[in-house]
Amino acid sequence: MYNNTPRTMIVTTALPYANGNIHLGYILEAIEADIWVNFQKMRGHTCYFIAGSDAHGTPIMIQAEKQGLSPEAFIEQMSREQLADIEQFGIRFDNFYTTHSPENEALVSEIYRNLKDSGAIIHKTIYQAYDPLKKMFLPDRYLKGTCPRCKTPEQYGDNCEACGATYSASELIDPKSVLSDVSPETRATEHLFFDLPQYADKLKQWLSGPHVAKEIQNKMQEWFEAGLQAWDISRDAPYFGFKIPGEEDKYFYVWLDAPVGYMASFQHFCQNHPELHFADFWKKGSETELYHFIGKDIVYFHTLFWPAVLMASQHRLPTQVFVHGFVTVNGEKMSKSRGTFITAKDYLAKLDPEYLRYYFAAKLNGAIEDIDLNFEDFMQRVNADLVGKIINIAARTASFIHKFFDNQLAATLNNPALLAEFMGKETEIAEQYEKRDYARAIREITALADKANEWIAVEKPWQIAKEQGGVLLLQEIASTALNLFRILIVYLKPILPRLAVSVENFLEIPPLKWQDIETPLLKHQIKTFSPLMTRIESTQIAEWIQNA
Ligand code: MSP
Ligand code: ZN
Repeated sequence: MYNNTPRTMIVTTALPYANGNIHLGYILEAIEADIWVNFQKMRGHTCYFIAGSDAHGTPIMIQAEKQGLSPEAFIEQMSREQLADIEQFGIRFDNFYTTHSPENEALVSEIYRNLKDSGAIIHKTIYQAYDPLKKMFLPDRYLKGTCPRCKTPEQYGDNCEACGATYSASELIDPKSVLSDVSPETRATEHLFFDLPQYADKLKQWLSGPHVAKEIQNKMQEWFEAGLQAWDISRDAPYFGFKIPGEEDKYFYVWLDAPVGYMASFQHFCQNHPELHFADFWKKGSETELYHFIGKDIVYFHTLFWPAVLMASQHRLPTQVFVHGFVTVNGEKMSKSRGTFITAKDYLAKLDPEYLRYYFAAKLNGAIEDIDLNFEDFMQRVNADLVGKIINIAARTASFIHKFFDNQLAATLNNPALLAEFMGKETEIAEQYEKRDYARAIREITALADKANEWIAVEKPWQIAKEQGGVLLLQEIASTALNLFRILIVYLKPILPRLAVSVENFLEIPPLKWQDIETPLLKHQIKTFSPLMTRIESTQIAEWIQNA
């Protein structure tokens, strides 16, 4: 039944920036990856789930300054909070670290040396806006001015919110530094560039393999046709990051050391697990698998820059890069000004995290489409499908086992055909998990739940109980229903790990593994049923619905 040769893999989510609270966009990504990892682990594979905070860059430096903290103290506090929020959603990383680590500094410096030795680093003079008061070069988002097209004032350095024009910061009329309100100067500065075009052919070849989805391949094709550009990997002081060895006051651009943070987090993990050898996982040609889960906005970094850096520094490449769309809220982009920006903390203050895991899973299908969190639909799916159909199978049958049979399941079951049908879905559902089509897996699972409920309705155990009391037939029907329920819980466990623990408790069984589907629970003592999950009350999300 199982073609399941043992695999070893590293799975990552993108590293969330440490300058803000975790929001539901990143939570979607972490849930998508966590489900995949849980599935692989339940199937007996070895899987390391790795991430951390992305700690570097100008915004973090500025944010720390505003709070009167050193960047180090600021990111430490943020990273701790980020992990706490993430864990509340049942997401369990094997290691959550930070890019501001000694391991990362050593690795990025070594990689930089490799790039340099292979002739992939070039120097170029660029002209950039400079704030003479703050004494720093200004990234585009720290410039404000009048839109060169529609003349709306107070627009950011790269695009106009009023007319949607995109332009370069030098075209802004009457530009001002966001930090000091003074007019910026234009100053020349020498930057270091990674010569990406050198790797164009190798990248093209890599991208034609099974490493990214077709849609991404097409997108990349456009980028190749437009021509690759050398990539600016340095920033001038003041900057919060790692100093570039052998240069005066130059720092690595945050996006150079951020993906190296995947390696560094794993290296840190290896230090606590001496049986693991870091190099085996990252050396060129490594047979272990490496998967990155990312959002659609950072594809360029993960499918061009990162593979090219790995190629140039003689490392292994990702096995696959999995790209998801963006979370929208009631059809709108998450936005602070529109009140549709939901942080992890906002959500947790109101609702059970497993509801959101279930809802996102019901919508994730492996494609790069946006995922809409619609409050009505959310309530409907959780209440009608999860609680109303799936949990209900146990809720409506467990009481008979308690009342008449001393919480003992029958030695024989009543409907082998239905049981076989439930077991028979195993391969299909496993394939859907593997392909990250959780939406389809959930459709299959709820269709099975419908069948179980229909069968219970036909057998009418409550009527048997009333007319005949604790007869064997009643014990068999209820035991069959609980066995069907148990199979559904195995299928759902990657999505709903906490529910699975409650069910394991109720059934008095060790943690469910995928292959437990094959062996029904017979003549087994269970606990008295207590509600496993409750419906969402409309008052719990009424506020949100009103605001929507
Ligand atoms: N720090 C970089 C990633 C470095 S990876 C080496 C970054 N951080 S982020 O905090 O902005 O985003 C983290 C992840 O969340 C990214 O994969 C991003 O695509 C994803 N999302 C951010 N907003 C999102 C939504 N609204 N919806 C879904 N995912 C979104 O990018
Ligand atoms: Zn404009």
